[in-house]
Amino acid sequence: VVANRQAIADCAPTGTFIIDVLDVEHYTDRMFSFRTTRPASFRFRSGEFVMIGLIVSGKPLYRAYSIASPAWADELEFFSVKVPDGPLTSRLQTIRRGDAILMRQKPTGTLVNDALEAGRRLYMFSTGTGIAPFASLARDPETYEKFDEIILTHTCREVAELRYGVDLVESIRGDEMLRELFDVSRLRHYTTATREPHLRHGRITDLVASGGLFDELGVPPLDPAHDRAMICGSAPMLRDTKELLERAGLTEGSNSRPGQFVIERAFVE
Ligand code: A2P
Repeated sequence: VVANRQAIADCAPTGTFIIDVLDVEHYTDRMFSFRTTRPASFRFRSGEFVMIGLIVSGKPLYRAYSIASPAWADELEFFSVKVPDGPLTSRLQTIRRGDAILMRQKPTGTLVNDALEAGRRLYMFSTGTGIAPFASLARDPETYEKFDEIILTHTCREVAELRYGVDLVESIRGDEMLRELFDVSRLRHYTTATREPHLRHGRITDLVASGGLFDELGVPPLDPAHDRAMICGSAPMLRDTKELLERAGLTEGSNSRPGQFVIERAFVE
């Protein structure tokens, strides 16, 4: 048993919550998502990450995870890679309903509305499990107060890895409560696959550079006066996407100094 509640409670350090797994969904042999209970006193801003962990060899082992659920939700949701020999994910991928997980109490992160200046259009550029913080922000009414249009791009190697985002967008469009709070058609979803045939093929960086993304969506090219962006993916993806945004004249922001784009590395091992 990797995540027995009593065993976890016995060695949980102070300053940690114990959260209970409600359900787990496996998408491919590389990705899965899970939902947990949310401690009553736990507060976070949509888009932030938190350290979650398990007891490994008698000691807590943590990794940073973006919270995929919005700030208003009663439950927490996470979207994770599975790395066969990854110290945490090799174990975490075996969790089941009723298991317990450790979570440090303090969330943090830069993929938050507060770190961006207001604008007309918000691009959320994601690859792989980098879509997680955007799953949170795309369900937060505050995002729609700050931006007129939200363009969520998700690129994965395989089509099956895109399903998490497809289900997410479908659930937002069909949610009665969210439909009352904002016009759900202001969220646009743009999926691409790189290693399998799909309706769109190729890396998002190539589709930005060629203009294919803008042509298909019928929007003007990137403009620092109106466009804002958040990027979440692997280190090389962040570097290349950031370069394209800077070339278009957008400047990076932070919590202390809001700007035109922000970046954060997705979980890797
Ligand atoms: P590719 O298949 O061409 O490597 P990963 O699972 O390795 O993080 O990759 C997730 C997605 O990100 C893949 O579709 C991958 O494309 C793409 N990707 C990898 N590196 C970059 C990069 N430097 N810029 C843009 N997209 C990238």
